[in-house]
Amino acid sequence: MRIAGLIARSPAMRDVLAQIERFARADASVLLTGETGTGKDAFALAIHSASPRRQQPFVKIDCPALPQTLVEAELFGHERGAFTDATVARPGRFEAAGKGTVYLDGVAELATDTQAKLLRLVEEKQAERLGGTAPYPLHARVIASADAGLEAKVRLGEFREDLYHRLRVLPLRLPPLRERRGDVPLLARAFLRESAARHKRGPLRLAPDAVSALERHAWPGNVRELRHVLERIVVSIEVDRAEIAAADLPLEVFDEPSNLYASDAAGPPTLADLERRYIEVVLRQVKDNQSEAARVLGISRKALWEKRRRYGLR
Ligand SMILES: Nc1ncnc2c1ncn2[C@@H]1O[C@H](COP(=O)(O)OP(=O)(O)OP(=O)(O)O)[C@@H](O)[C@H]1O
Ligand SMILES: [Mg+2]
Repeated sequence: MRIAGLIARSPAMRDVLAQIERFARADASVLLTGETGTGKDAFALAIHSASPRRQQPFVKIDCPALPQTLVEAELFGHERGAFTDATVARPGRFEAAGKGTVYLDGVAELATDTQAKLLRLVEEKQAERLGGTAPYPLHARVIASADAGLEAKVRLGEFREDLYHRLRVLPLRLPPLRERRGDVPLLARAFLRESAARHKRGPLRLAPDAVSALERHAWPGNVRELRHVLERIVVSIEVDRAEIAAADLPLEVFDEPSNLYASDAAGPPTLADLERRYIEVVLRQVKDNQSEAARVLGISRKALWEKRRRYGLR
């Protein structure tokens, strides 16, 4: 299965795609978990778009942003005059989704009494507008997302276990980018194409040393961080350049000690790889000041110059 615009070729993501396909056909609640930037929003929409409900609305509810005082009016809707500011009647978000999908983004952040209201809504599959008289039936499918903190909240009693199980009929974990490094070059090239087109500049290639550095980075901000790094390079690199080298990548891509030892597509690093990577890091840290770099590395400026030439470090 291919999902428009989403890249998922690594073994870890092939399993995810297979599940997305099954979950799209099933109609039960899905709980997507994963670190920030792993693609929870993107895959929630992908499930909806591959489901029989695809022609119906996809309504996202940003749970952390739900205003405490208005939460019932938001979720259930209200009739005109139900409270002071209710000058017009408004449908609730579940009602507005009709036979489509409601996406509860960041569900772990819901306040306790909102959790109770939500549970009633998904269990009874009906709701009543504030100030309304007759309950109306609900038909929307629910997809929720959360980061790894949700399970801990359930254990600590901060998130209702009954609601957790309701939402988690079909659980799906999106692996962090460091568990699918094989996708990094593909994602990087796709984001590069996209950014270059948006900024109306010629195509940009990634040099092999840049690909290797991107593959080694741990990407704590996952796919979103990768996208932003490439966007920044496209904006800042000279217009006549056609290739991005490792030297053009921002310091944070190199700046973790563990990155020095990380394997890339060619396997674990050789001694020469370690030396090259360390020189790269130091050069960036001293903003390319040659004497300062030589001092930190404990070698002469001439030796540094020779190593740079040998390793092709500009
Ligand atoms: N597999 C993928 N292929 C292409 N782009 C992707 C993929 N996964 C995520 N993205 C892109 O990465 C960015 C972050 O994804 P998204 O917003 O879905 O993450 P998230 O898990 O919802 O993050 P958060 O927890 O911070 O809300 C988006 O621009 C999205 O389009
Ligand atoms: Mg999100």
